[in-house]
Amino acid sequence: MTFGFGLGLRTQHYNDFLDQPQPVDWLEVISDNYMVDGGKPLAVLDRIRANYPMAMHGVSMSIGSIDGPNQDYLRKLKSLEQRIEPMWVSDHLCWTGVHGRNMHDLLPLPFTHEALQVVKRNVEQVQEVLRRPLILENVSSYVEFKTSEMTEWEFLTEVCQSTGCKLLLDINNIYVSAFNHGFSPSSFIEGVPADSIIQFHLAGHQNNGDHLIDTHDHPVCDRVWDIYRQALMHFGYVPTMIERDDKVPPLAELLTELDTARAIAQETLNATIAV
Ligand SMILES: [Fe+2]
Repeated sequence: MTFGFGLGLRTQHYNDFLDQPQPVDWLEVISDNYMVDGGKPLAVLDRIRANYPMAMHGVSMSIGSIDGPNQDYLRKLKSLEQRIEPMWVSDHLCWTGVHGRNMHDLLPLPFTHEALQVVKRNVEQVQEVLRRPLILENVSSYVEFKTSEMTEWEFLTEVCQSTGCKLLLDINNIYVSAFNHGFSPSSFIEGVPADSIIQFHLAGHQNNGDHLIDTHDHPVCDRVWDIYRQALMHFGYVPTMIERDDKVPPLAELLTELDTARAIAQETLNATIAV
């Protein structure tokens, strides 16, 4: 795979990408922002898509909901997928609502066999519509369920192996959840199937002393860069991007951070090959 290094496309940077070529290999777009019939954002997306490969990343599929996938949502997602022909389509292993109510948050699931059956059924339904593997991202969490019967990585492995879906590993989310719940990031990395990893997210968070909040409004911290190195050593090269959703800085700042990711990947992979 040689997809290189990307950024999440944000409205603040539309003109940067429209005005001149930028040193990114691909862009990730938030699917939900473009699942409309027309308008300026879609027109801008078409123009930028002409020059960059894109990945689609959604935030409201609610793959863990007992309601099952919303058919209207899936129809619009498929329509966008046909329009921009992305490298892949991802969303989160979470639930965002139930009985028609959307909580607008990525809520954690209990890692039970019952929840596993719900997620498997929903993933299969989504993949039937998309006719390609769905890519699931691990979310950050602040609570755990007493009822959980397995770890998050065991749950993800089961979903991948039984449905053929793949994984987007958010390295920051691994760190945030590991810190909050007291598990080792290495256990997570070593616990998921290496042949299922399609993409990495790198992001920042807020450190509140005894807990971390996944705010996506800070640069990537040193500890997350360390876990990125570990992930590269374990999985080899994986397409990587910086994900900033709040306090979005000028594009040049994110490009510098992306250069750091490139340098770390090159150094780590060269060292791995030399060994
Ligand atoms: Fe992420």
